[in-house]
Amino acid sequence: MSVIPFSQALRERTRTDHSSSEGAGFMTDLMSGRGSRDDYIALVAQHYFIYAALEAAAESMRDDAIARCFISDDLTRLPALEQDLEFLLGDDWRAQIEPLPTTRRYVDRIDEVAGSWPGGFVAHHYTRYLGDLSGGQIIRTLMQRQFGFETNGVGFYLFDQIAKPREFKDRYREQLDGVGWDDAERARVIDEVALAYRFNTELFADLAHAREAQSSISAAG
Ligand code: HEM
Repeated sequence: MSVIPFSQALRERTRTDHSSSEGAGFMTDLMSGRGSRDDYIALVAQHYFIYAALEAAAESMRDDAIARCFISDDLTRLPALEQDLEFLLGDDWRAQIEPLPTTRRYVDRIDEVAGSWPGGFVAHHYTRYLGDLSGGQIIRTLMQRQFGFETNGVGFYLFDQIAKPREFKDRYREQLDGVGWDDAERARVIDEVALAYRFNTELFADLAHAREAQSSISAAG
C-alpha cells in the first residue's frame, strides 16, 4: 500500500481552491494589465493587516514543537510591507488604509486559531508563504513590468534571504510530511487551508467591489 505524503495530499485536495483564488477577476485583471497602480496598492494594504496577524501568531508560537519547524525569519514580510506602503502612499500611509470586510474576518480567524493550534498555524502559514514563493514571484515580475517598480513597492515579494525558492519549498514540504499528524488532524489542517484560500478569494471580490464603488464615486463627482 502506498501512502500519499501529506504535502501532496494537501496540494491535491486544495487544487480547486487554489484555482479559484488564482482565477479571481481582480487578480486576473491585475495580472493581464487591466488593473491600475491603485488596485495594486489596495492589495498591498490588505496584505499589511493579514501579515500583521500571521506574524504576531508566529511570535506566540515560536516555542511550539511543531510550529517552530516552519517559522523562519527569512519569511517575515511585515517590515517589507511597511516599506512598500511608505513608498506607495507616503509617510502617512497608515492613516490611509483600513481592512476590508473579508480581511477583518480573515484576521479574526488567524487570531482565533493560529496563535494556539499548531495545525491551524501551519495551515495559514503554508497558504500565504508558499503562495508568495510561488505565484507571488510571477506577480512581482508582472507588477515590476507594468508599473515600473524596481525593488521599492514590491519588497513584499522579494525574499532576500531565500536564494532558491524551489529548494525552500521542497524543505517546507518535507517538514509537512514529517509532522506525524494522524488522519483526523491532517483533515482538519486541509480544511483550514481550504478556508484560508476562501478568504483570499473573497478578498479579491471585496477589492473588486471597492474599486467599482470608487469608480462610481469618481464618475458621479
Ligand atoms: C495570480 C495569482 C496566482 C498565480 C499565478 C499562482 C501560481 C502558482 C504556481 C505556478 C504555483 C506552483 C508552484 C510550484 O509548484 O512550486 C503555486 C503554488 C501555490 N500557490 Fe499560487 N498562484 C496565485 C495565487 C495564489 C493565492 C492568492 C494563494 C493563496 C493566498 C496561493 C497559494 C499558493 C500555495 C500555498 C502554493 C503551494 C502549493 C503546494 O505546492 O503545496 N496562490 N501558485
